[in-house]
Amino acid sequence: MARLETSVGPLRLRNPILSASGTFGHGLEMQHFAPPETLGGLVSKTVTLKPRPGNPHPRIAETEAGLLNSIGLENRGIEAYLRDVLPTMANAACAVVTNIGGEKPEDFAAVAALLDSRPEVDALEVNLSCPNVQGGKLPFSTDAKLAESVIRGVRAATKKPLFAKLSPNVTDIGEIARGCEAGGADAITAVNTLLGMSVDWRTGKPGLNTVIGGYSGSGVKPVALRCAYQCARAVKIPVIGCGGIARASDVLEFLVVGCSAVEVGTSCFSDPANLARLAGEIEALLDERGIAELASLIGSVRLPGAPVASCAPAATGAGGGR
Ligand SMILES: Cc1cc2nc3c(=O)[nH]c(=O)nc-3n(C[C@H](O)[C@H](O)[C@H](O)COP(=O)(O)O)c2cc1C
Repeated sequence: MARLETSVGPLRLRNPILSASGTFGHGLEMQHFAPPETLGGLVSKTVTLKPRPGNPHPRIAETEAGLLNSIGLENRGIEAYLRDVLPTMANAACAVVTNIGGEKPEDFAAVAALLDSRPEVDALEVNLSCPNVQGGKLPFSTDAKLAESVIRGVRAATKKPLFAKLSPNVTDIGEIARGCEAGGADAITAVNTLLGMSVDWRTGKPGLNTVIGGYSGSGVKPVALRCAYQCARAVKIPVIGCGGIARASDVLEFLVVGCSAVEVGTSCFSDPANLARLAGEIEALLDERGIAELASLIGSVRLPGAPVASCAPAATGAGGGR
């Protein structure tokens, strides 16, 4: 049976499957569908310093190939998370990743500092798609220097492994990834939602109250795969792929382009038990191809002009060896 273990920087995972922030509860709410022992890790919804009510409804709209959302980072704030959620995660049988957000760089660092001493937390993921309130509300993820300074502040506040979660809504995602690496991130998560909108032509009403929101699900997979690939080529730290992943073959595609693990989001809304099945399905695919170690696929993308190799080709430089 193929070995599915992987690592993301200092964090060891039993398999490469993590839940994506905001799509799979905050803690263990979904354990009846996907027991933690079937997963590499659980990622919380974004936690901020102060509670946030989120955006007005409607804030979810279905599209032909995915979902639009404008939840607006609704959460009860770090105090409630520390008090009510984390204690329930103490014995979770998978890695626990807390996704953090903020309106100012100092907010991110303050939340990270409060989490640093909590043994329940195995890693932090920094949601850089949060709007920068001091900078015209453009997300931190749109500027490499700003992203670097947020990560640097969080790095100084915690020793936990740190993932920088990037937005695909930029011209050069590799530049942003390099900024986060320079700031001290242990890994890059690529990516958050794409900007999108929907409208009913009969009524003229947009699907979301905020008109524009975040697009996710199967339709975004090629964009997310491209972003993950570009990040893997831009940095030496590991990359976690995210966006439109639903099947075992999707997971393997992200690994081949250089990812060490993946996060699965929107596909869980229609089939929450899918997350629990993915590891077994990956194992079956690898066994079929005689691949003994999942990790051997990481970065094995064969770029045009590269020599033809076996079913688990050697790395070609696209994040090779990770
Ligand atoms: C309803 C919803 C809520 C989300 N909330 C968050 C969030 O709080 N923090 C975050 O970093 N990403 C959030 N995301 C983005 C996902 O974690 C993920 O990056 C994105 O949806 C792409 O993956 P997918 O296509 O598998 O869903 C949210 C996505 C959805 C659909």
